[in-house]
Amino acid sequence: MTEINHRRADHPIHSIFLERWSPRAFTGEEISETDLLALFEAARWAPSASNLQPWRFVYGRRGTEHFERLLDTLDEGNQRWAKNASALVVILSRTHRPTSTGEARPSYTHAFDTGAAWFALALQAQLAGWHAHGMGGIDRERAMRVLKVPEHYRVEAAVAIGKLADPSTLPDDLREREKPSQRKAIGEFAFEGRFNGD
Ligand SMILES: Cc1cc2nc3c(=O)[nH]c(=O)nc-3n(C[C@H](O)[C@H](O)[C@H](O)COP(=O)(O)O)c2cc1C
Repeated sequence: MTEINHRRADHPIHSIFLERWSPRAFTGEEISETDLLALFEAARWAPSASNLQPWRFVYGRRGTEHFERLLDTLDEGNQRWAKNASALVVILSRTHRPTSTGEARPSYTHAFDTGAAWFALALQAQLAGWHAHGMGGIDRERAMRVLKVPEHYRVEAAVAIGKLADPSTLPDDLREREKPSQRKAIGEFAFEGRFNGD
């Protein structure tokens, strides 16, 4: 079966799923607004419950003050390498949906829907020669405050987008981890008929 990036698919799938991974070594080159908007275009077409499209993205391109503001919201462990990204993005989702009576009702699927949008962005990045590395390590309260996010949104994660650099550009500890990861066997997460996991 297909093997790419030292990852082996046991069943036939498109190569993009094995090619995409989350590196930390980025070149630090600039990304044009046009190239970045194409990634949001891919996210735009993600499916969502009732087509509510609850995802929101706040972005900053390298070389702008916005990039520095976004970088400051990341945990230190992520700032170490994400500082070399070409763009940083904070992913938000709208936690409440409007009803016909005007009251806001909690949305069950906002995070699920926004997860689909982020992955569309990540795949498009890969197709366009970029890499997108998701980050949960973000100071959410700080991000809410400095990015002026309204209360009915949740900070889900952040993303560093960049072009792949040589691993030698990373500090020792990160260099050792700079390789595509493996996965559980399908039998550990997909069950016929009824749940059969741990
Ligand atoms: C929601 C989310 C949060 C993550 N948080 C971090 C993070 O804070 N720092 C980091 O270096 N990587 C982070 N990652 C990257 C994961 O560790 C990585 O996606 C996972 O190990 C699978 O590897 P791959 O993306 O290279 O296939 C995160 C990924 C996702 C999707």
